[in-house]
Amino acid sequence: MIKESFVIEGLAGKKSLKGEIRVGGAKNAALPAMASAFLFKGEIKLENVPDIEDVKRMFELLEELGVLVRKNPKNLSLDAKNAKKTELPKEISKKMRASIILTGPMLARFGQVSFPHPGGCLIGERPIDIFLEGFKKMGATVKETDSIYKVEAKNKKLKAAEIFFKIQSVTATETFLMAALLAEGKTVLRNCALEPEVTSLAEFLVSAGARIDGIGTSTLTIEGGELLNPPHAPYVTIPDRIEAGCFLILGALCASDLEISNCHPKNLLALIEPLKNAGVPLEIKENSILIKNNGKIQNEKFKSFNIKTHEYPGFPTDLQAPAVVFLTQASGESSVFETIFEGRLNYTSDLVKMGADIKIWDAHRGSVKGATLLKGKELEGPDIRAGLAFIIAALAARGRSVISNVYFIDRGYEKIEKRLKAIGAKIKRATIIFP
Ligand code: EPU
Repeated sequence: MIKESFVIEGLAGKKSLKGEIRVGGAKNAALPAMASAFLFKGEIKLENVPDIEDVKRMFELLEELGVLVRKNPKNLSLDAKNAKKTELPKEISKKMRASIILTGPMLARFGQVSFPHPGGCLIGERPIDIFLEGFKKMGATVKETDSIYKVEAKNKKLKAAEIFFKIQSVTATETFLMAALLAEGKTVLRNCALEPEVTSLAEFLVSAGARIDGIGTSTLTIEGGELLNPPHAPYVTIPDRIEAGCFLILGALCASDLEISNCHPKNLLALIEPLKNAGVPLEIKENSILIKNNGKIQNEKFKSFNIKTHEYPGFPTDLQAPAVVFLTQASGESSVFETIFEGRLNYTSDLVKMGADIKIWDAHRGSVKGATLLKGKELEGPDIRAGLAFIIAALAARGRSVISNVYFIDRGYEKIEKRLKAIGAKIKRATIIFP
């Protein structure tokens, strides 16, 4: 079988990477901002949009739905003026969980929307009950036939509602924030997700005249109304805090001096604090993080720490896999508690094949003993975030690794091999024939 792969020569613990690595726009901020096109009378502009596969899929979805999409490397213009279709195309939606964000603004604009159960990474069950319950609260009916959900608002207009999210959900908060803007009356959303991507979307909508109170808190109050006028200023995608966190971990393990530029360290304290305590020499600036004189003392190991993933501002589940790679290289035993997704420790079996000492106790819990020498192996990236964690592990390891399933990595990270090469990593993209 032929598979596109990354071939990586490990540094065997040497901290030889150096230079500057710039953080791109956040995938999980760009995707909802793109979906918001349905809330506007005319064309909106988005900047600093990462050139990644998930953005391309969202782009294709919008085009299929009749949105006029123009792209000029990292800048997008989206105009939903002539969009009429209300069915999300099955193929793409099933592959990308984030497609569900479209349902809120589409239902609000057209009074109906149908969509398949959304797919995405294999990190857990990923139900959509919170969405379906919320639509009903806003006066819509939900019918399911042959795995397609058809949602229809009474008289084609959503009604404001009081919704308490039983779990803080990032995409559900974004979906109902957008749906409520075109509903009749004042909606109150409680137990909202606090992730910076939610705040960034809300601030953009406010810049277009939306009336949203409580931004940055767990209660959002939204005044419904008509389609919004596009704002003069574009939406500027915030830096990807997960990408920044991955570069930080990579730098801690493999770099002597590294500047992680164009990031917002204040959104990443849940990782920065434990890394500092572990002994990683970090200097935090407003928009960058410097790793300085790392690895000066031969064979000195960082101290391990425990991880418990949590909704923002807690430790992000999307950084759990890269952080576990860090722990395999730190000294001591640490516990890992993945509280958000039940399939998000599966990748650890591949780290064990590389030589890591990791025990998994149940679907949510494990422990890591470090420091262990990792050896290069053939690996298959299982999801976006574990995929990049494997690249970090491969670079820290001794010997050559081949990581296939690069599509998952390309879904979330732009031209990763080019950017890593620029700081000294030996990584190349190759088409490999597997027996
Ligand atoms: N949940 C339900 N019912 C629902 C929706 C969610 O039970 O209807 C549960 C989930 O199963 C999970 C918890 O709620 O246990 C929280 O999940 P959430 O809904 O917040 O996840 P999401 O919105 O689907 C976003 C990111 C994920 C990130 C999570 C958690 C986007 C597009 N995706 O997903 O990012 O892991 O929040 O922070 O914003 C990634 O980028 O690789 C990725 C998976």
